[in-house]
Amino acid sequence: MNIFKKTFCRGFQGAFYVAMPVLPYKDPDIIDSIGDIPDILNKEGIKRPLVVTDSNLSAIGASKNLTDVLDAAGTDYVFFDKAFPNPTTDLVERAYGKFISGNCDGLISYGGGSPMDVAKAVGIRVVHPNKKLTQLAGIVKVWKKLPPIIAIPTTAGTGSETSVTTILVDSETRHKFGISDFPLIPKYAVLDPVTIHELPRDIAASTGLDALVHALEAYINRSHTKESRNYCELAVKWIFVSLKDSVDHKSEEAERQMLLASHYAGRALSRAYVGYIHAVSHSLSGMYDLPHGWTNAVLTPIVLRMYGPVVNKKLARLARCAGIGKADETEAELAEKFIAAFEEMNRFYGIPDHIDAIREEHIPRMARYAAKEANPVYPVPVLWTAEDLEEVYRRVMPGSGHSRGNDK
Ligand SMILES: [Fe+2]
Repeated sequence: MNIFKKTFCRGFQGAFYVAMPVLPYKDPDIIDSIGDIPDILNKEGIKRPLVVTDSNLSAIGASKNLTDVLDAAGTDYVFFDKAFPNPTTDLVERAYGKFISGNCDGLISYGGGSPMDVAKAVGIRVVHPNKKLTQLAGIVKVWKKLPPIIAIPTTAGTGSETSVTTILVDSETRHKFGISDFPLIPKYAVLDPVTIHELPRDIAASTGLDALVHALEAYINRSHTKESRNYCELAVKWIFVSLKDSVDHKSEEAERQMLLASHYAGRALSRAYVGYIHAVSHSLSGMYDLPHGWTNAVLTPIVLRMYGPVVNKKLARLARCAGIGKADETEAELAEKFIAAFEEMNRFYGIPDHIDAIREEHIPRMARYAAKEANPVYPVPVLWTAEDLEEVYRRVMPGSGHSRGNDK
């Protein structure tokens, strides 16, 4: 990246960093049990919420965890169970139509990232009925207060229940884009282990690794704060302690800790952002409809190694948080052990080191999308242009020669 672009990006990020103490972050109130939701609705004066969930959760009856509580309390609500992974702008329009025709006055999202993204986007459409969502892509363009959102994550997870962002796919172009602004932060986050208890192993693992990537990217970025660093360190420690017990042994205590870890990682990324792992991942999952957490997990070792020694110090600290390595090891050794531990988790959960779907002819376009998403907003440790980013896609193609361990 040339010096002018670099100066612009770092200047933009610096301005946000300086402004951070006065930015209106308002973390959601944490609620421990779904059973408390009717009380929250009463307290907020919400008479008719739109419940947004996804078709899979609805089909397997998981959303009954919520609807049984609402029905027992006699709550009047409108049910929209058509959300799907990588939600599109068309899908949001359908949910928004339900909100309007049902005279709704609040939103409850029940699900992983997708229902939460849809609920936030419906909220945006309510306050911006004359704007297309694509017109609001980017940061701090929403401005207006949304209807209250009660977010119930069913993965641990996206951290979306506390983030300023909704991620959507433009139905016309398949371009995946984000809208980030403070009013998108839900008012309540319900962290109840019952919601993640039945998750299939592969989804529980890849979403848990997504939470780890949130903490990791927020930590190695340049605009972190003491608060965001604390959140990251706690999240990384808890994920290394609890992921396996939560995913493979279904320990309720571990599930609760994973939900909190994911939540704290979400708080961290709202303040310190994510980086090129997410930017590249979004372009890939938008183009090929790949699961977000899975794509991040594949990309993480590759991107971390491409960053090089500049991230060693912070990765070494995270390694210590995770209980990896010995006290007398160098930062470079600990950083490498942290990356190796991530690869080991990928192996353990059957996540590959390459993505078969990638086609060479798509790479320049995806790299442009990734560069557009990341620059200048994400305060990444090393700045890359779209041309630089093309290398990430090529390294993750099958047979690239950069498969597991080759860069050591
Ligand atoms: Fe993520």
